[in-house]
Parts: sequence; structure tokens; C-alpha cells
Amino acid sequence: MTVADVRDLKPGMVIDKDIVNMRTGAILIGSGTVLNRKLILHIKNLGLKEVDIFDEKSFLKEHPEDSLVIKYEKLSDKVENTFNDIKIVKKIILTEISDEVDDLIVELISNNNILGRLKQLEKRDNYTFNHSLDVCMLATMVGKWLGYSQIQLKQLSMAGIFHDIGKLKISDDIINKPEKLTKTEFEIIKKHPIYGYDILNETVGISRNVAIGVLQHHERQDGSGYPYGLKGNEIHEFARIIAICDIYDAMTSNRVYKRKESPFLVAEHLDDESFRNLDPRITRIFLDNISKFYVGSKVKLSNGEVGDIIFVNPQMPTKPIVKVGEKYINFLEEKKLQIVDIIK
Ligand SMILES: [Fe+2]
Repeated sequence: MTVADVRDLKPGMVIDKDIVNMRTGAILIGSGTVLNRKLILHIKNLGLKEVDIFDEKSFLKEHPEDSLVIKYEKLSDKVENTFNDIKIVKKIILTEISDEVDDLIVELISNNNILGRLKQLEKRDNYTFNHSLDVCMLATMVGKWLGYSQIQLKQLSMAGIFHDIGKLKISDDIINKPEKLTKTEFEIIKKHPIYGYDILNETVGISRNVAIGVLQHHERQDGSGYPYGLKGNEIHEFARIIAICDIYDAMTSNRVYKRKESPFLVAEHLDDESFRNLDPRITRIFLDNISKFYVGSKVKLSNGEVGDIIFVNPQMPTKPIVKVGEKYINFLEEKKLQIVDIIK
């Protein structure tokens, strides 16, 4: 924490201690609030001389493990603004998120336990927004495992963030509908990759790879996807990566119309799908790497028992060995039980 003179306040600084009304005790500006020009003016009008500001550098020296959380929060703020801009001014101002994406990539490259952290991050009350950031982070990790260059990673991250941006053009009533969509509604949803492509195509500074990755993220290897029914290598590699991360995150998250699935059931689903409609090589790399993160996790089994994952075979990442009390369950051989949830 540092004490800042109100004359030195700048947009983007973060309040580190609640500013309260001295007379009533009511919180006027809460800790964690990111300052903008309006708030700075408000603070000056309150007659305050100094406020406590969050000092990121010294905080990170003491808590290096929170670095990802801070980078994630910063990107979240910027992406939220960007999504709002699209609804209002109908375009993306790329420079506003560029630095934050670079910072997050550095963090993702150096941080190995990204998956464990991903579900612990404090999420906002907006599924499309959270899902976009999750897919961005997962896709960037896949790019790292594929040996992508810095430039490729940046483009892939951008494609992850914006993969569902076209949904902002579709009514929330359809996007958040808890019941099954009608045929007409699904036809509307199926337009979101094209809407997203159009928005990105008009964005200054965005690579064509990003726009194509977004356009094709619902295409499938066997031609069963949309909007164009492309097959195999006709589909851009970014889109093939995003497809896997998109399915994984959607299935492991709670939605209005369904409860989340266990990552192991989802991994099995991806494994099955990889023979038909996902890129088998990328799916394998994805499953091999993410499964390693689960060693040491506590899991709940379909019979209600709780155990610890003690080994994951890289050849069969969806079938770990779980220790329950004194017994070991090898899911390679176990046919009746399933892992239904990861507790921590
Ligand atoms: Fe999508």
C-alpha cells in the first residue's frame, strides 16, 4: 500500500482502503475500486488530501503467487470495457487490451499450474465474459505446448478472448435461455462466428488469423460444424485449438441450463470426439498436459467416496489411479465407478 496525494491520482490506480464518510461511517468508495476520471474528481470534491493506493510491485514481492490473479483481474477490467464498447460503439479498440494480453501471456508461460488456478479465480456474473477469458487462457496454454512463437501466442490469445464476441449481437434472451433452443433460435446462435468475424475484420490492428480463428471455431473435422461445414485442414489451427478449449470450459462450468461435469468425464468426451470431429493431435496434447495438473487433487467418486489422485498415466490421461483410504482404484481397470467431481 502507498499513500498517494489526490493531485497525483491517475485513472487505472486501485484504491487499497475503503474511503468512508467520517460522519456516518458509510463506504463511499470501496477497496479494490479502479479509479477513472469521474471517481478522481469525486475524491477531490470530497476534500480529501491523500488516499491509500494499491502498490502492485511491493505486493507482488511479498505475494508472487498472486501474480496471475492480478494480471487476470487487469485483463478482466479491460476486456469488460471492450465488450461494453462493442455493444455501444460497435467496434473494438485493440490498443486498450494489448498490453494486458502481453502481461497475461508472460504469466501463463511461466506458470505451470494454470488449470488449478483457473477455477479459483474470482469470476464475474457474466458467463460469456468468463468463458471468453477461460478459453483465452486455455488456448494460450495449448499454444505454449505446441511451441508457438510470441507473435502466434498473442494472436491465439486474442482469438480466444474474442471467439464468442459475435454473441454480443444476439439477444440475451436467446444466449441465456435455460430451456432447449428452438430450431429458429439455434439458427440465430449459429450466426455468431460470422458476426464475430465481421467485427474483427473491421478492427484496426487485428491479424487475419484471429478473425479466421473466430469465424471457424465451431467448424468440426468431419464437416459437421458451422457456419460452412469445413473439414480437416480446411479449418485454421487456431479454430481447432479454440474448439477443444471451448468444449472443455463449457462442459466444466455451471450454466443456467446444466450443472458442470467432472473434468475427467469431459476429458473422456474430448477423447471420443477427437476421433471424429476434433483435431486428434491437439486433443492429445491438451489432454496429456491438463491431466498432469490433477495429480494431488481430491476427487469425489460416483459411489460418494472421496479420494486423492496419485498417478495419471500420460498414455491414458482420463484413467488415473485414485487412493481412497487404504485402497487404490485404477480407473484403467475400474468399470463401474466414475470420477464425478474435483473437490480441490
Ligand atoms: Fe462459440
